[in-house]
Amino acid sequence: MKRLHVCIVVGVLISLMAAHAAADDYVDMLKQKVPRYERFTTGRFAPMYEPLARQMVLDYKLKTGVAVEIGGSCSPFLMHLARKTEMTCYALDIDVWAMRLLGVMVDEAQLTGRVIPVEGDVQDLPFKDNFADLIFSRGSIPFWPDQTLGLRECYRILKPGGVGYIGHGGFGRLLEPEERAKMVKWRLGWGKNEENRPEGWRGPKEGMLDMAREIGIKEFRLIKEPQVGWWLEFRK
Ligand SMILES: C[S@@+](CC[C@H](N)C(=O)[O-])C[C@H]1O[C@@H](n2cnc3c(N)ncnc32)[C@H](O)[C@@H]1O
Repeated sequence: MKRLHVCIVVGVLISLMAAHAAADDYVDMLKQKVPRYERFTTGRFAPMYEPLARQMVLDYKLKTGVAVEIGGSCSPFLMHLARKTEMTCYALDIDVWAMRLLGVMVDEAQLTGRVIPVEGDVQDLPFKDNFADLIFSRGSIPFWPDQTLGLRECYRILKPGGVGYIGHGGFGRLLEPEERAKMVKWRLGWGKNEENRPEGWRGPKEGMLDMAREIGIKEFRLIKEPQVGWWLEFRK
């Protein structure tokens, strides 16, 4: 009888270890499938997201409500925003692997239900009108096939009184100067080398202000970050 118990315990332990190994393999597989996973989550660009989240909270007095990030991949920005506020944060990206990996990361960070991965296309957002208090996006607009349509969708789901902040390649205002200098240097080097450009990248769009006018956005402004990019801030 005693021997049977020992066998059962050993059997259960082996099954648990196998299940853990399979889960680790799955996460490793996802990390390999998400383009530039390291760069944005732990690599050279990672330090920008906490100050960016802080900037949004400070400038727009964010506390509660709904935030949507578009094209954030594994959304380090939203993970920081969720920790700094009580907002419900939706991370929408067209990359199914990034959304699966984000699901695992959110659970590990104990942010389940606070950061919600949504696979989708900015050009056809799966959210109702007037849904979000904050719409944030960085580095994704150069990849949108129809940027006007994407921006129109962002405006549609923005709540009256809410704010949209959509950027091309900036790092935000509150990043430590030393970190900024490193990132600017790297960005400028990257920009010169065409081979570095990811598939689907269409470059900075000229005429963001015209696009905002065409959509019928009444209140907007362009915030420039010398050498690296710009942000379109808009309200409804
Ligand atoms: C270069 S990454 C930007 C990552 C990060 N937001 C950053 O700070 O740079 C571009 C992201 O936009 C997403 N993306 C591209 N086209 C999209 C679309 N039509 N709708 C939603 N997301 C899109 C990609 O899957 C990718 O995760």
